[in-house]
Amino acid sequence: MTNGISENALYVSLYLPGETTPTTAALLKLERNNLQEGGQLAYGLGYLERPDAQTLNPLHLPLQRESFRLPARLLRDGGALPLTIKDALPDAWGLRVLANELGGRLPSEREQLLLTNEDRVGAMVFSETRDMPPPAELQHHELAALADAVRRLQYDMEIPTPLKRLLLRGGSLGGTRPKASFMHDHALWLAKFPAAGDPLDVQMLEAAALDLAKLCGIMVPQHMTLPIGRGETAFLSRRFDRFGEAAQQRLHFLSASALLDIPYESSDGSYVEFARVIRRLSLRPGADLLELFRRMVFNLLIDNTDDHLKNHGMLWAGSNRYVLSPAFDIVPQLTNLGYQMLSIDGSTQESSLELAVQSAAHFDLSTDQASAIIKEMAGVVYGQWWLNSPLPALPETLRKPMARCFDRQKQIIGVGKLSS
Ligand SMILES: Nc1ncnc2c1ncn2[C@@H]1O[C@H](COP(=O)(O)OP(=O)(O)OP(=O)(O)O)[C@@H](O)[C@H]1O
Ligand SMILES: [Mg+2]
Repeated sequence: MTNGISENALYVSLYLPGETTPTTAALLKLERNNLQEGGQLAYGLGYLERPDAQTLNPLHLPLQRESFRLPARLLRDGGALPLTIKDALPDAWGLRVLANELGGRLPSEREQLLLTNEDRVGAMVFSETRDMPPPAELQHHELAALADAVRRLQYDMEIPTPLKRLLLRGGSLGGTRPKASFMHDHALWLAKFPAAGDPLDVQMLEAAALDLAKLCGIMVPQHMTLPIGRGETAFLSRRFDRFGEAAQQRLHFLSASALLDIPYESSDGSYVEFARVIRRLSLRPGADLLELFRRMVFNLLIDNTDDHLKNHGMLWAGSNRYVLSPAFDIVPQLTNLGYQMLSIDGSTQESSLELAVQSAAHFDLSTDQASAIIKEMAGVVYGQWWLNSPLPALPETLRKPMARCFDRQKQIIGVGKLSS
């Protein structure tokens, strides 16, 4: 480092379809000048010559020989990393796990990228040299032991060393809530655990919401709840970006944040803008537009206001096309805020079914079709949904707050105002 200037470089690799080891795709160079960070990203020339070369982001980092300049920005404002790479950083939970691993110190972004390769969503991995060691096989562990490690971390208690490593892998995924990776039935699953101070069983709530989403025609990952002792539950969701033996093959995933080039913490962006991306990239635009419309309506119906841009995304589907990933992180917030994190059409954050109907054309629907879909879904969600729930028995402690929340929500989003 001289005169406050320091440089660092990282290789960006992708697991290409069908492969179980990553292929180096690009070099990322960051330069720090006092409080500012700038840099560049360039695809390798050899990589560009491969017939199966995949872009890191078809809309913002297309395959090209020229390097991409990453304009200098204050570190305080997020630095120079493109949002495609930021997608790979852990969020609050992962940071907590990494800080524990580093003896309490917060990791740099470089460390965050290097330490979260194994289980991050999608197919991107980062390394300091061209070659990366293959990922270690995830040992089978009892879910209760994992839950205990997660609990210990939340209460700043000592964690046995073998469990620390497992925690590290779960922290690779984004998100705020406690989670871990779990091998079950030769497949990789994401396990979500109770967070300290939860007023009710959020894991069971998430499973019930996904069951309900499925009844509303929404594509959801295979999921289940399992007991972890002390009357607590884990929510398990099968990884939709991992395939093959020991889940070693990966599919590239891009969040709506990376696709729209909008930070997920911001209130910019909208379902309508995401629909435009789907129109450009999807292998099956008609089906995906309808699916996105259903997800938007479902979030309104069940009071899932936490529908930010990292809670939507697309998966690589071959031939330079993508498809909407199965739905995830769909949970009634039980707060009836009346404002969505992701706006319907960019004009307001309001949770309004009327606005949803007015936006129908962006999803290739007529307003009549949109109204019919909403009515059908409202019938499922506000009908006797607990009778339909495949969960053995939704406990009263959950059913009551959900029913109360849904009753309030009907008024807020204006179900009664829809013309018949
Ligand atoms: N079944 C799945 N397969 C692959 N990746 C998944 C799956 N479910 C979730 N993910 C990825 O893991 C990330 C974290 O999961 P999730 O959003 O459920 O966690 P969270 O902590 O509840 O998030 P938030 O902070 O938004 O509340 C998601 O952003 C998504 O990228
Ligand atoms: Mg999330």
